[in-house]
Amino acid sequence: MRKIALAGLISLLSLSPTYANDDGMITTVIHAGQLLDVKSGKLLKDQFIIIDGDTIRDVVTLRDMEDMEEEDIKFINLSDMFVLPGLTDAHVHLTGDANIHGYKRLTRSTPRAAITGVRNARRTLMAGFTTVRNVGAPGFADVDLMEAIEDGDVPGPTIIPAGRSIGITGGHCDNNLLPYENRETAGGVADGPWAVRTKVRENKKFGAKVIKFCGTGGVLSKGTKVGAQQFSFAEMKAIVDEAHQLGLKVAVHAHGEEGINTAIRAGVDSVEHSSFISDEGIRAAKANGTYLSMDIYVSDYILSEGEEAGILVESLEKERTVGKKQRERFQAAAEAGVKMAYGTDAGVYPHGDNGKQFAYMVKWGLSPLQAIQAATINNATLFGVETHIGSLESGKMADIIAVESNPLGDVSELEHVDFVMKGGTVFKSKEE
Ligand code: ARG
Repeated sequence: MRKIALAGLISLLSLSPTYANDDGMITTVIHAGQLLDVKSGKLLKDQFIIIDGDTIRDVVTLRDMEDMEEEDIKFINLSDMFVLPGLTDAHVHLTGDANIHGYKRLTRSTPRAAITGVRNARRTLMAGFTTVRNVGAPGFADVDLMEAIEDGDVPGPTIIPAGRSIGITGGHCDNNLLPYENRETAGGVADGPWAVRTKVRENKKFGAKVIKFCGTGGVLSKGTKVGAQQFSFAEMKAIVDEAHQLGLKVAVHAHGEEGINTAIRAGVDSVEHSSFISDEGIRAAKANGTYLSMDIYVSDYILSEGEEAGILVESLEKERTVGKKQRERFQAAAEAGVKMAYGTDAGVYPHGDNGKQFAYMVKWGLSPLQAIQAATINNATLFGVETHIGSLESGKMADIIAVESNPLGDVSELEHVDFVMKGGTVFKSKEE
């Protein structure tokens, strides 16, 4: 054991050798020039994050560091950077390809989608997103991707997979592209309270860690109306009760106001999209503590690149109304102080561009801090993992990112994350 003297520390800061302690665990110290405490919104100067293996042991000042006795330490010098907790996204489809929409989708097998997912997982992590909720994948490709990442086979964020999205026959979560002779039914389709409970149980059985269902029509599905509710209250209640009984959170896809109100009444944890949420819906969300996960960037991509990517003409038509209205309602919800999640629908647009939504959320009513909180501590709470991630505190995972300038000044800085650590392992750094 030796004490780390200040002079020794400064000289070590420029080195980054890797050492293992006696018990084989690597201790890493990150010198954060500015560390954002996402809970208080304060930027703390010259903090030292001490990491044992994959977990933050403590966050201390230089004075505390001098008293630290340690065998060997790996130092990471981020003294000229702004350090934050890893970002999170409540709504992605890692197996989705932004260039492959509409009828092009029919040519893609589930194994092929999983391989696309490998590429997308890497892009997502490199963009600074260290945990994502994957709200719907063909088969259980997202569960397999989660496992491959956990096993260290491929790099990617921590995934909270939904497996198959649950939906009504002919609804947004079904596949309505083919005629009767060549008909296809999506894996999560079920009608009736007991049938949907079975789907929840099956999803859990095959690895889902969150339940996603479709409570209204959608933009990208054929023949559905965004304003029309899908599933009755009894069916929604059955999904939510069964999921909660099994310890799973529930995310509902819902654009139209009736579907949103009914889903909130049924007890969902988050409403995805929320495009036409009424004032009544906003009040209900506030009263029930329901999170809104509003993907207010994606419209720009759909309307500019969508046609080439194969998005149906009817979908482009729907998007022209939905995108605009959704931003207005986001502003109303932000003003009312509803709990905001950070959910983007990456997969519809390119993975790795998850950070583009920050600037939109600020343009439409949140402060930069609130937008960052949505993507860190709020999402962590919505996911039910706030004791593990969401802020840089003792006992939490060492999921840490850094950017060059102050994101509280210009939140679009988070579109260019320079340093990414996930679970104590560095995946991206300026030096490399
Ligand atoms: N997956 C969603 C749907 O098809 C995408 C909605 C995108 N548009 C929007 N303005 N958020 O309904």
